Amino acid sequence: MKIIAEFGWFCAEEDSDRFSKGFGEENFNTLIAVDKSTNKILGSVVIGFFEKIDNSPALVTLGFYIVLPEFRGKGIGTKLFKEVINDPRFKNANFGLNGTSYMSKKYAKEFGYDKFPNWQICKNKIKISDIDINALQINPEVTVVGFNDIDYQKLIEYDIKIQGGIRRDKFLKAFLDAKTSFAKIAVDKNGKIVGFGNIRTGVNNQIGLGPFYADSQSIAETLLKKILESIENLKSYDYFRIFPPNINQNADEIFNRLCNGKTVVSSGFSFPQFTKEIIRADASRIYSITEYGLNVA
Ligand SMILES: CC(C)(COP(=O)(O)OP(=O)(O)OC[C@H]1O[C@@H](n2cnc3c(N)ncnc32)[C@H](O)[C@@H]1OP(=O)(O)O)[C@@H](O)C(=O)NCCC(=O)NCCS
Repeated sequence: MKIIAEFGWFCAEEDSDRFSKGFGEENFNTLIAVDKSTNKILGSVVIGFFEKIDNSPALVTLGFYIVLPEFRGKGIGTKLFKEVINDPRFKNANFGLNGTSYMSKKYAKEFGYDKFPNWQICKNKIKISDIDINALQINPEVTVVGFNDIDYQKLIEYDIKIQGGIRRDKFLKAFLDAKTSFAKIAVDKNGKIVGFGNIRTGVNNQIGLGPFYADSQSIAETLLKKILESIENLKSYDYFRIFPPNINQNADEIFNRLCNGKTVVSSGFSFPQFTKEIIRADASRIYSITEYGLNVA
């Protein structure tokens, strides 16, 4: 996590533990390249396997693929990558990852990650000092409740609809129900889940949004306002990291308003890409993906 944080990617110290619990130890693996003579860590890659449950699409995702700058171009990365995907359990599986713009075409050419949805993930951030929570409006038709106030199975059903059918039964609980997560669920007048969102504290004194899904812009706005209000020491952080699909204009509108005309800073895009089948997430209802290491939405 240290190398990843130094490189500027958003993650949390607890993510490794969340992944391990969320995928299950048998379905999550971290490979580290170590210099034998110095014991120095040179690079890493992690892999997670979302299993098929009741006909859901199975997916092997790979992320946090990184080698220290001074050791690049010596074949370390390729060795890590090949080793982690060559697990006999994953033979014939659909693989996915979020490629950086520099690497995306290379993954397609060398490893067959050549199926792309029609959107990319924005890697944006807002200065906490630019945030004005009062700029967000509340939709009176929506009630916002805590993670423990809802039927978890209903949340899974909602999650499946948004992020392309993948079952994250264990994963969501590990990700949302944690001391350093601020998760809230939006329900309508009939008690139906119409959105949910989470902010987690992360490295480099930042907080990150995701997953953040909602049926409409006004529901998203209500949820975001309530989540931000629930973080007592909000102003003590430096940056708010957000990962909206680039085609969701409602998300753009909310985040621009949140920082009250100040700038949403872009650090480029990630390209979701797959080997066999595109996982068709509903980008119109995604305001920030879960995280870009091992999740496609
Ligand atoms: C991507 C990265 C991990 C590769 O590590 P590395 O040790 O330099 O990799 P290698 O020495 O094996 O690379 C040899 C070549 O294969 C490419 N390559 C490496 N892994 C590859 C893969 N999985 N698929 C296709 N091409 C790959 C490299 O880009 C390099 O190409 P070049 O000769 O055109 O420059 C490294 O460049 C890095 O840390 N980059 C910054 C972080 C990053 O962007 N990670 C990718 C996130 S999606």
